[in-house]
Amino acid sequence: MEKLVSLAKRRGFVFQSSEIYGGLGSVWDYGPLGVELKKNIKERWWRSMVHEREDIEGLDAAILMHPKVWEASGHVAGFTDPLVDCKHCKNRFRADDPKIKGTPGQPDGQCPVCGMKGTLTAPRQFNLMFKTFMGPVEEDAAVIWMRPETAQGIYVNYLNVLQSSRQKVPFGIAQIGKAFRNEITPGNFVFRTREFEQMEMQFFVKPGSDGEWFEFWRGERMKWIQGLGIRQEKLRWHQHGKTELAHYAKDAYDIEYEFPFGWNEFEGIHNRGDFDLSRHQEYSGKKLDYLDTTTNTRFVPNVVETSAGADRTTLVVLCDAYREEAVKNEDGADKEELRVVLKLKPELAPLKAAVFPLVNKDGMPDIARRIYDDLRKRLNVFYDDGGSIGRRYRRQDEAGTPFCITIDGQTSQDQTVTVRDRDTLKQIRVASAKLLDYLKEQLTG
Ligand code: GAP
Repeated sequence: MEKLVSLAKRRGFVFQSSEIYGGLGSVWDYGPLGVELKKNIKERWWRSMVHEREDIEGLDAAILMHPKVWEASGHVAGFTDPLVDCKHCKNRFRADDPKIKGTPGQPDGQCPVCGMKGTLTAPRQFNLMFKTFMGPVEEDAAVIWMRPETAQGIYVNYLNVLQSSRQKVPFGIAQIGKAFRNEITPGNFVFRTREFEQMEMQFFVKPGSDGEWFEFWRGERMKWIQGLGIRQEKLRWHQHGKTELAHYAKDAYDIEYEFPFGWNEFEGIHNRGDFDLSRHQEYSGKKLDYLDTTTNTRFVPNVVETSAGADRTTLVVLCDAYREEAVKNEDGADKEELRVVLKLKPELAPLKAAVFPLVNKDGMPDIARRIYDDLRKRLNVFYDDGGSIGRRYRRQDEAGTPFCITIDGQTSQDQTVTVRDRDTLKQIRVASAKLLDYLKEQLTG
């Protein structure tokens, strides 16, 4: 994992937030390559959920919501983790932290950091929602919450979307947006952070058909993830046992990936029954039931939710793409060397191609610049004229750039360039006039 974190910083994928001030705990910033990679993943999700389906609408609800939303959703009362403090070293842990020996609050409870016995407090419930204040007065009446999931913005807009889009149940609403959780034990890079992005879709169905739709969405989500190019053997399902189920869920499955720190969830598919709409109906006093005009019956729809973390999915994509390989030296020396390469699916790669003049003379930089200017109107490409060609290839390997284009001595004679494939290292000559078509074909193929 350290190698990936170091590559992410070196190449500009992910930086620690406020690094010059020593960083802010478990908050991360996406650099020039990271923002492109995450955006490509989010766009692919949006396309498959919203644009390719006529039964799903998009939404962008505000992060700040009426405080009653979080009472109705059960988050004020139930979105908590059990927390223990060490009175000696002042560290804080989840009460179920496997590193704790003995029972917190009892003489045998042992602090995993300072090793003292009997210094751990009894567990108390700690709400994971970030609190803030609306308006200039910091009093209880002005308290609002930073949303811990995007789903609630969808539920409270369910009728607005239904009426304005003329959809009929079954139909869905999809949203991508920030969520915040004051996690007690964040960590593992962007895996568990305090500010993160979710890609969530709530599918509203007739009660009784929820089981069938739950299975349907499980299948669709796994297909989508496989479409990101993730290795099948690194993916598995985990069904929540009774004690694991969230307060809203009737049934839930996680999709897990084998990260370098072990198997962990990065997406959940949840059967939320009518919990959310019924609670909002009760707390708001507004009717949220649906009139089925074919049967002339009214019901509160059940909800099947697909909930993915954009950051965790980005981490899955990065972990799965990271490889170290022995390859031949590409500066012509007769030796092998180790390369680090991100074998990203070309469609997800932040940069689609890099353009190099072989040397900075004989008119090559001018031609290379022209080709680069032409390509960048259509694709995200990079220009590099620094260092040996082999070193430039290695830098692009680490960025996951699928193609490197070199303008050499032959280019001015026959208007062809070399195109080097990141994965096979093979080079072919392509007419510069046909370069864009060639790249587009390779990138979508
Ligand atoms: N609306 C349901 C919901 O929020 P969840 O299992 O709590 O369900 C869904 O979260 C997804 O959001 C997770 O699978 C994960 O990808 C992402 N996620 C949750 N907490 C996170 C955190 N602290 N940091 C990064 N991603 C997180």
